[in-house]
Amino acid sequence: MLQIQQNVSLKNFNTFGVEANAHFFAEINHEDELVELFMDPQWQQTPRLVIGGGSNLLLINDFDGLVIRMNIRGIEHRINHNEVFVEAGAGEVWNDLVNFCVQRGYAGLENLSLIPGSVGASPIQNIGAYGVELKDVFYSCRAFEINTSQFKTFTKADCKFGYRESVFKAELKGRYIIVSVKFDLSLIPNLNLRYGAIEEELANRGITEPTIKDVSQVVSHIRVAKLPDPSTIGNAGSFFKNPVITVAEFEPVKEKFPEIVNYPAGEGLIKLAAGWLIEQCGWKGKVVGNTGTWKNQALVLVNHGSATGEEVYNFSSQIIDSVYSKFGVSLQREVNIIS
Ligand code: EPU
Repeated sequence: MLQIQQNVSLKNFNTFGVEANAHFFAEINHEDELVELFMDPQWQQTPRLVIGGGSNLLLINDFDGLVIRMNIRGIEHRINHNEVFVEAGAGEVWNDLVNFCVQRGYAGLENLSLIPGSVGASPIQNIGAYGVELKDVFYSCRAFEINTSQFKTFTKADCKFGYRESVFKAELKGRYIIVSVKFDLSLIPNLNLRYGAIEEELANRGITEPTIKDVSQVVSHIRVAKLPDPSTIGNAGSFFKNPVITVAEFEPVKEKFPEIVNYPAGEGLIKLAAGWLIEQCGWKGKVVGNTGTWKNQALVLVNHGSATGEEVYNFSSQIIDSVYSKFGVSLQREVNIIS
Protein backbone atom coordinates (compact mmCIF):
# COMPACT_ATOMS: atom_id res chain seq x y z
CA MET A 1 0.00 0.00 0.00
CA LEU A 2 1.38 3.35 -1.06
CA GLN A 3 2.22 5.60 1.86
CA ILE A 4 2.53 9.37 1.78
CA GLN A 5 4.64 10.79 4.56
CA GLN A 6 4.70 14.41 5.69
CA ASN A 7 7.59 16.72 6.57
CA VAL A 8 10.40 14.38 5.61
CA SER A 9 14.03 15.53 5.76
CA LEU A 10 15.74 15.27 2.37
CA LYS A 11 19.26 15.52 3.79
CA ASN A 12 19.94 11.85 3.11
CA PHE A 13 18.26 11.99 -0.29
CA ASN A 14 20.58 14.56 -1.89
CA THR A 15 24.29 13.94 -2.36
CA PHE A 16 25.07 17.59 -1.62
CA GLY A 17 23.86 16.75 1.88
CA VAL A 18 22.01 20.03 2.34
CA GLU A 19 19.14 20.24 4.78
CA ALA A 20 15.65 20.70 3.31
CA ASN A 21 12.24 19.18 4.06
CA ALA A 22 9.67 17.73 1.71
CA HIS A 23 6.12 18.68 2.65
CA PHE A 24 4.91 15.32 1.22
CA PHE A 25 7.06 12.32 0.36
CA ALA A 26 6.21 9.06 -1.43
CA GLU A 27 8.49 6.16 -2.23
CA ILE A 28 7.58 4.18 -5.35
CA ASN A 29 8.63 0.52 -5.33
CA HIS A 30 6.43 -0.69 -8.16
CA GLU A 31 5.07 1.06 -11.24
CA ASP A 32 1.45 0.33 -10.21
CA GLU A 33 2.03 2.66 -7.27
CA LEU A 34 2.36 5.57 -9.70
CA VAL A 35 -1.09 4.77 -11.08
CA GLU A 36 -2.43 4.52 -7.53
CA LEU A 37 -0.80 7.81 -6.52
CA PHE A 38 -2.20 9.83 -9.41
CA MET A 39 -5.71 8.39 -9.01
CA ASP A 40 -5.99 11.06 -6.35
CA PRO A 41 -6.40 14.27 -8.40
CA GLN A 42 -4.79 16.45 -5.71
CA TRP A 43 -1.33 15.19 -6.77
CA GLN A 44 -1.90 16.38 -10.35
CA GLN A 45 -2.11 19.95 -9.01
CA THR A 46 0.66 19.75 -6.41
CA PRO A 47 4.23 20.78 -7.33
CA ARG A 48 6.27 17.60 -7.74
CA LEU A 49 9.91 16.64 -7.57
CA VAL A 50 10.95 13.18 -8.76
CA ILE A 51 14.24 11.94 -7.33
CA GLY A 52 16.45 8.91 -7.78
CA GLY A 53 19.85 9.00 -6.10
CA GLY A 54 19.57 12.78 -5.58
CA SER A 55 23.02 13.18 -7.13
CA ASN A 56 22.26 16.01 -9.53
CA LEU A 57 20.23 18.29 -7.29
CA LEU A 58 20.71 21.45 -5.30
CA LEU A 59 17.83 22.08 -2.89
CA ILE A 60 17.62 25.77 -2.08
CA ASN A 61 14.52 25.69 0.14
CA ASP A 62 12.11 23.25 1.73
CA PHE A 63 10.06 21.64 -1.03
CA ASP A 64 6.45 22.70 -0.63
CA GLY A 65 4.99 19.86 -2.65
CA LEU A 66 5.32 16.13 -3.22
CA VAL A 67 8.72 14.45 -3.53
CA ILE A 68 8.48 11.11 -5.35
CA ARG A 69 11.44 8.84 -4.70
CA MET A 70 11.80 6.19 -7.39
CA ASN A 71 12.88 2.87 -5.89
CA ILE A 72 11.73 0.36 -8.53
CA ARG A 73 14.31 -2.44 -8.57
CA GLY A 74 15.14 -5.36 -10.83
CA ILE A 75 17.56 -6.14 -13.65
CA GLU A 76 16.61 -8.45 -16.53
CA HIS A 77 18.93 -9.59 -19.29
CA ARG A 78 18.40 -11.37 -22.58
CA ILE A 79 21.15 -12.54 -24.93
CA ASN A 80 20.53 -12.70 -28.66
CA HIS A 81 23.67 -13.96 -30.47
CA ASN A 82 26.28 -11.36 -29.47
CA GLU A 83 23.80 -8.68 -28.50
CA VAL A 84 22.62 -8.34 -24.90
CA PHE A 85 19.54 -6.42 -23.88
CA VAL A 86 19.58 -5.40 -20.25
CA GLU A 87 16.55 -3.73 -18.69
CA ALA A 88 16.84 -2.15 -15.25
CA GLY A 89 14.31 -0.58 -12.88
CA ALA A 90 14.60 3.18 -12.43
CA GLY A 91 15.54 2.77 -8.77
CA GLU A 92 18.57 0.57 -9.37
CA VAL A 93 21.82 2.23 -8.34
CA TRP A 94 23.66 3.10 -11.56
CA ASN A 95 26.96 1.59 -10.51
CA ASP A 96 25.29 -1.65 -9.39
CA LEU A 97 24.00 -2.00 -12.94
CA VAL A 98 27.47 -1.29 -14.35
CA ASN A 99 28.96 -3.98 -12.08
CA PHE A 100 26.20 -6.45 -12.96
CA CYS A 101 27.09 -6.03 -16.65
CA VAL A 102 30.88 -5.90 -16.29
CA GLN A 103 30.89 -9.11 -14.21
CA ARG A 104 28.93 -10.96 -16.89
CA GLY A 105 31.02 -9.65 -19.77
CA TYR A 106 28.25 -7.43 -21.15
CA ALA A 107 30.21 -4.62 -22.77
CA GLY A 108 29.21 -0.99 -23.16
CA LEU A 109 28.80 0.52 -19.70
CA GLU A 110 32.40 0.15 -18.45
CA ASN A 111 33.44 3.78 -19.10
CA LEU A 112 30.43 4.90 -17.09
CA SER A 113 31.63 3.13 -13.93
CA LEU A 114 31.11 4.79 -10.55
CA ILE A 115 28.85 7.61 -11.78
CA PRO A 116 26.63 8.37 -8.78
CA GLY A 117 22.86 8.24 -9.13
CA SER A 118 20.12 5.94 -10.30
CA VAL A 119 19.27 4.21 -13.57
CA GLY A 120 16.04 6.20 -13.98
CA ALA A 121 17.88 9.52 -13.95
CA SER A 122 20.48 8.44 -16.50
CA PRO A 123 18.54 9.33 -19.70
CA ILE A 124 17.30 12.67 -18.37
CA GLN A 125 20.65 14.37 -18.72
CA ASN A 126 22.27 11.75 -20.97
CA ILE A 127 25.00 10.99 -18.42
CA GLY A 128 28.49 10.66 -19.79
CA ALA A 129 32.11 10.19 -18.85
CA TYR A 130 35.45 9.22 -20.35
CA GLY A 131 34.39 9.29 -23.99
CA VAL A 132 31.03 7.49 -23.65
CA GLU A 133 27.52 8.88 -23.22
CA LEU A 134 24.38 7.05 -22.20
CA LYS A 135 22.98 7.49 -25.73
CA ASP A 136 25.74 5.18 -27.07
CA VAL A 137 24.24 2.23 -25.17
CA PHE A 138 20.63 3.27 -24.72
CA TYR A 139 17.92 1.21 -26.43
CA SER A 140 14.64 2.50 -24.96
CA CYS A 141 12.95 3.52 -21.74
CA ARG A 142 9.52 3.05 -20.26
CA ALA A 143 7.87 6.07 -18.68
CA PHE A 144 4.64 6.95 -16.89
CA GLU A 145 2.70 9.89 -18.28
CA ILE A 146 1.37 11.85 -15.32
CA ASN A 147 -1.62 13.47 -17.08
CA THR A 148 -3.03 10.26 -18.53
CA SER A 149 -1.64 7.57 -16.16
CA GLN A 150 -0.49 5.66 -19.26
CA PHE A 151 2.89 4.01 -19.78
CA LYS A 152 4.82 4.82 -22.93
CA THR A 153 8.02 3.47 -24.47
CA PHE A 154 10.55 6.01 -25.75
CA THR A 155 13.05 4.98 -28.40
CA LYS A 156 16.48 6.55 -28.64
CA ALA A 157 15.27 8.93 -31.35
CA ASP A 158 12.27 9.97 -29.20
CA CYS A 159 14.63 11.00 -26.40
CA LYS A 160 16.48 13.63 -28.54
CA PHE A 161 19.73 13.16 -26.66
CA GLY A 162 22.35 15.90 -26.69
CA TYR A 163 25.27 16.87 -24.45
CA ARG A 164 23.70 16.52 -20.97
CA GLU A 165 20.31 17.03 -22.63
CA SER A 166 17.18 15.07 -23.53
CA VAL A 167 13.52 15.60 -24.29
CA PHE A 168 12.81 14.96 -20.57
CA LYS A 169 14.69 18.16 -19.65
CA ALA A 170 13.15 20.14 -22.50
CA GLU A 171 9.69 19.95 -24.07
CA LEU A 172 8.51 17.01 -21.93
CA LYS A 173 9.88 18.38 -18.65
CA GLY A 174 7.74 17.31 -15.69
CA ARG A 175 5.33 15.24 -17.79
CA TYR A 176 6.80 11.75 -17.52
CA ILE A 177 8.40 9.59 -14.85
CA ILE A 178 10.90 7.03 -16.10
CA VAL A 179 10.24 3.58 -14.62
CA SER A 180 12.85 1.46 -16.44
CA VAL A 181 15.64 1.74 -18.98
CA LYS A 182 16.72 -0.82 -21.57
CA PHE A 183 20.34 -0.96 -22.76
CA ASP A 184 21.76 -2.45 -25.94
CA LEU A 185 25.06 -4.09 -24.94
CA SER A 186 27.38 -6.58 -26.56
CA LEU A 187 29.31 -9.73 -25.77
CA ILE A 188 32.05 -8.41 -28.06
CA PRO A 189 33.77 -5.43 -26.42
CA ASN A 190 34.29 -2.32 -28.49
CA LEU A 191 36.57 -0.54 -26.04
CA ASN A 192 36.71 3.23 -25.96
CA LEU A 193 40.16 4.19 -24.68
CA ARG A 194 40.42 7.60 -26.33
CA TYR A 195 40.40 9.51 -23.07
CA GLY A 196 44.11 10.08 -22.31
CA ALA A 197 44.02 9.23 -18.62
CA ILE A 198 42.58 5.75 -19.36
CA GLU A 199 45.47 4.86 -21.67
CA GLU A 200 47.96 6.25 -19.19
CA GLU A 201 46.59 4.26 -16.27
CA LEU A 202 46.39 1.04 -18.32
CA ALA A 203 50.06 1.55 -19.26
CA ASN A 204 50.95 2.17 -15.57
CA ARG A 205 49.37 -1.17 -14.76
CA GLY A 206 51.20 -2.88 -17.63
CA ILE A 207 47.92 -3.87 -19.28
CA THR A 208 48.24 -4.13 -23.05
CA GLU A 209 45.07 -6.08 -23.86
CA PRO A 210 42.45 -4.66 -21.55
CA THR A 211 39.18 -6.39 -20.73
CA ILE A 212 36.03 -4.47 -19.85
CA LYS A 213 36.79 -5.27 -16.21
CA ASP A 214 40.19 -3.54 -16.57
CA VAL A 215 38.56 -0.48 -18.14
CA SER A 216 35.94 -0.36 -15.40
CA GLN A 217 38.64 -0.56 -12.70
CA VAL A 218 40.79 2.09 -14.37
CA VAL A 219 37.85 4.48 -14.81
CA SER A 220 36.87 3.95 -11.16
CA HIS A 221 40.46 4.68 -10.13
CA ILE A 222 40.54 7.93 -12.14
CA ARG A 223 37.20 9.06 -10.72
CA VAL A 224 38.25 8.37 -7.12
CA ALA A 225 41.49 10.34 -7.65
CA LYS A 226 39.77 13.35 -9.19
CA LEU A 227 36.29 13.57 -7.74
CA PRO A 228 35.12 13.81 -4.12
CA ASP A 229 33.14 10.87 -2.72
CA PRO A 230 29.63 12.19 -1.97
CA SER A 231 29.37 9.89 1.05
CA THR A 232 32.11 11.88 2.79
CA ILE A 233 32.02 15.31 1.07
CA GLY A 234 28.68 16.52 -0.25
CA ASN A 235 28.68 17.32 -3.96
CA ALA A 236 26.71 16.71 -7.16
CA GLY A 237 29.52 16.08 -9.64
CA SER A 238 30.16 18.73 -12.27
CA PHE A 239 28.17 21.76 -11.17
CA PHE A 240 28.31 23.46 -14.59
CA LYS A 241 28.24 22.20 -18.16
CA ASN A 242 31.28 22.61 -20.36
CA PRO A 243 30.27 25.63 -22.46
CA VAL A 244 29.81 25.10 -26.19
CA ILE A 245 30.46 28.24 -28.25
CA THR A 246 30.79 29.06 -31.95
CA VAL A 247 34.18 29.27 -33.66
CA ALA A 248 33.52 32.99 -34.21
CA GLU A 249 33.00 33.49 -30.47
CA PHE A 250 36.04 31.36 -29.73
CA GLU A 251 38.58 33.21 -31.93
CA PRO A 252 38.98 36.37 -29.80
CA VAL A 253 39.11 34.33 -26.55
CA LYS A 254 41.79 32.06 -28.01
CA GLU A 255 43.78 35.10 -29.10
CA LYS A 256 43.80 36.47 -25.57
CA PHE A 257 44.29 33.07 -23.85
CA PRO A 258 46.23 30.87 -26.30
CA GLU A 259 46.52 28.00 -23.80
CA ILE A 260 42.72 27.68 -23.35
CA VAL A 261 41.61 24.02 -23.14
CA ASN A 262 39.15 23.32 -25.99
CA TYR A 263 37.72 20.49 -28.08
CA PRO A 264 35.90 20.40 -31.42
CA ALA A 265 32.17 19.97 -30.75
CA GLY A 266 30.64 19.50 -34.21
CA GLU A 267 30.27 21.79 -37.20
CA GLY A 268 31.52 25.30 -36.28
CA LEU A 269 31.35 24.61 -32.53
CA ILE A 270 33.96 24.44 -29.78
CA LYS A 271 33.57 22.98 -26.31
CA LEU A 272 35.56 24.67 -23.53
CA ALA A 273 36.66 22.98 -20.28
CA ALA A 274 34.66 24.76 -17.58
CA GLY A 275 37.04 23.37 -14.93
CA TRP A 276 39.94 25.14 -16.64
CA LEU A 277 38.07 28.44 -16.89
CA ILE A 278 37.16 28.26 -13.20
CA GLU A 279 40.70 27.33 -12.18
CA GLN A 280 42.11 30.27 -14.17
CA CYS A 281 39.87 32.58 -12.17
CA GLY A 282 41.61 31.35 -9.02
CA TRP A 283 38.75 29.28 -7.60
CA LYS A 284 40.29 25.83 -7.59
CA GLY A 285 40.33 24.33 -4.09
CA LYS A 286 39.01 27.59 -2.57
CA VAL A 287 36.96 27.25 0.60
CA VAL A 288 34.33 29.96 1.00
CA GLY A 289 32.32 29.60 4.20
CA ASN A 290 30.89 26.07 4.17
CA THR A 291 31.27 25.62 0.45
CA GLY A 292 33.98 25.82 -2.22
CA THR A 293 35.38 23.98 -5.22
CA TRP A 294 37.11 20.61 -5.08
CA LYS A 295 40.89 20.65 -4.83
CA ASN A 296 41.39 18.24 -7.75
CA GLN A 297 38.52 19.39 -10.00
CA ALA A 298 37.34 23.00 -9.98
CA LEU A 299 34.11 22.10 -11.80
CA VAL A 300 32.83 20.32 -8.70
CA LEU A 301 31.31 22.43 -5.92
CA VAL A 302 31.36 20.86 -2.48
CA ASN A 303 29.65 21.10 0.89
CA HIS A 304 32.29 21.22 3.60
CA GLY A 305 29.77 20.24 6.26
CA SER A 306 26.87 22.50 6.92
CA ALA A 307 26.37 24.51 3.74
CA THR A 308 22.85 25.54 2.86
CA GLY A 309 21.60 25.20 -0.69
CA GLU A 310 21.41 28.98 -0.88
CA GLU A 311 25.04 29.33 0.12
CA VAL A 312 26.17 26.92 -2.60
CA TYR A 313 23.93 28.65 -5.13
CA ASN A 314 25.29 32.11 -4.28
CA PHE A 315 28.83 30.80 -4.54
CA SER A 316 28.04 29.35 -7.97
CA SER A 317 26.78 32.79 -9.05
CA GLN A 318 30.10 34.32 -7.98
CA ILE A 319 31.92 31.78 -10.17
CA ILE A 320 29.66 32.51 -13.14
CA ASP A 321 30.30 36.24 -12.76
CA SER A 322 34.06 35.92 -12.51
CA VAL A 323 34.35 33.53 -15.49
CA TYR A 324 32.19 35.91 -17.50
CA SER A 325 34.24 38.96 -16.65
CA LYS A 326 37.57 37.26 -17.44
CA PHE A 327 36.60 35.25 -20.55
CA GLY A 328 33.27 36.65 -21.71
CA VAL A 329 31.88 33.09 -21.52
CA SER A 330 28.62 32.24 -19.71
CA LEU A 331 28.62 29.08 -17.62
CA GLN A 332 25.33 27.21 -17.36
CA ARG A 333 24.51 25.17 -14.29
CA GLU A 334 24.31 21.45 -14.97
CA VAL A 335 22.88 20.58 -11.56
CA ASN A 336 19.11 20.82 -11.15
CA ILE A 337 18.31 23.82 -8.95
CA ILE A 338 15.18 23.26 -6.86
CA SER A 339 13.83 26.42 -5.26
N1 EPU B 1 40.64 21.16 -15.96
C1 EPU B 1 41.40 22.13 -15.36
N2 EPU B 1 41.16 22.40 -14.03
C2 EPU B 1 40.24 21.73 -13.32
C3 EPU B 1 39.47 20.74 -13.95
C4 EPU B 1 39.69 20.46 -15.29
O1 EPU B 1 42.25 22.76 -15.98
O2 EPU B 1 40.11 22.02 -12.13
C5 EPU B 1 40.93 20.81 -17.36
C6 EPU B 1 41.70 19.48 -17.41
O3 EPU B 1 43.06 19.73 -17.36
C7 EPU B 1 41.26 18.88 -18.69
C8 EPU B 1 39.89 19.46 -18.93
O4 EPU B 1 39.73 20.54 -18.04
O5 EPU B 1 42.11 19.29 -19.73
C9 EPU B 1 38.79 18.44 -18.78
O6 EPU B 1 38.75 17.96 -17.44
P1 EPU B 1 38.16 16.51 -17.06
O7 EPU B 1 38.75 15.50 -17.94
O8 EPU B 1 38.30 16.35 -15.59
O9 EPU B 1 36.65 16.58 -17.48
P2 EPU B 1 35.55 17.71 -17.40
O10 EPU B 1 35.32 18.22 -18.77
O11 EPU B 1 35.88 18.70 -16.34
C10 EPU B 1 33.56 16.08 -17.91
C11 EPU B 1 32.23 15.74 -17.33
C12 EPU B 1 32.39 14.82 -16.13
C13 EPU B 1 33.12 13.56 -16.58
C14 EPU B 1 34.48 13.97 -17.16
C15 EPU B 1 35.26 12.82 -17.72
C16 EPU B 1 30.77 17.62 -17.81
C17 EPU B 1 30.04 18.79 -17.26
N3 EPU B 1 31.51 16.93 -16.94
O12 EPU B 1 34.27 16.87 -16.93
O13 EPU B 1 31.08 14.44 -15.71
O14 EPU B 1 33.32 12.67 -15.50
O15 EPU B 1 34.26 14.91 -18.25
O16 EPU B 1 34.72 12.39 -18.92
O17 EPU B 1 30.68 17.34 -19.00
C18 EPU B 1 29.31 15.13 -14.24
O18 EPU B 1 28.66 15.37 -15.26
O19 EPU B 1 28.85 15.31 -13.10
C19 EPU B 1 30.70 14.66 -14.38
C20 EPU B 1 31.50 14.47 -13.34
